[in-house]
Amino acid sequence: MAKLNSLDDLLVHELQDIYNAENQILKALPKMIKAASHPELQSAFEEHLEQTEGQVERLDQVFKLLGVPAKGKKCEGMAGLIEEGKKVMEEDAEPSVMDAALIAAAQKVEHYEIASYGCVCTYAEMLGYDQVHDLLGQNLEEEEVTDEKLTELAESVINNEAEEAEDAEEEASR
Ligand SMILES: [Fe+2]
Ligand SMILES: [Fe+2]
Repeated sequence: MAKLNSLDDLLVHELQDIYNAENQILKALPKMIKAASHPELQSAFEEHLEQTEGQVERLDQVFKLLGVPAKGKKCEGMAGLIEEGKKVMEEDAEPSVMDAALIAAAQKVEHYEIASYGCVCTYAEMLGYDQVHDLLGQNLEEEEVTDEKLTELAESVINNEAEEAEDAEEEASR
């Protein structure tokens, strides 16, 4: 186990966690794209998959700037969130309800990432690593924008559809 003696150590520790988390997300997103029905949700996931590839590249640059090898350490938090997402995808759900469930799963992932990038950004700033701070800030912003976009999608289209499906079902059972 690595010793955490300084903020530098903690920065590297947290970067290894998010690096692994991003790589887990890279594997999970294609499955979420397949499970999504609404074209806008599918394209939102596709766009974020591309963004995520860029985020991993930025993390590679960050490791290089810090002079430490770019390697991850299993992120158990992300593994748990992805496992939960996998379970929900196995459910027999109305397509619009599945879309709403996928948004919920994705937003939990985004919030994890926002917390992680928020922390490493703060550490980089405190340590005066301007370039590292800038790169991590770009990732943080992309996660925040994605989270907002998912909220909009949930509010505007998908949750409405899920409600309509529910109403139709109630109507039919009357
Ligand atoms: Fe990410
Ligand atoms: Fe993300």
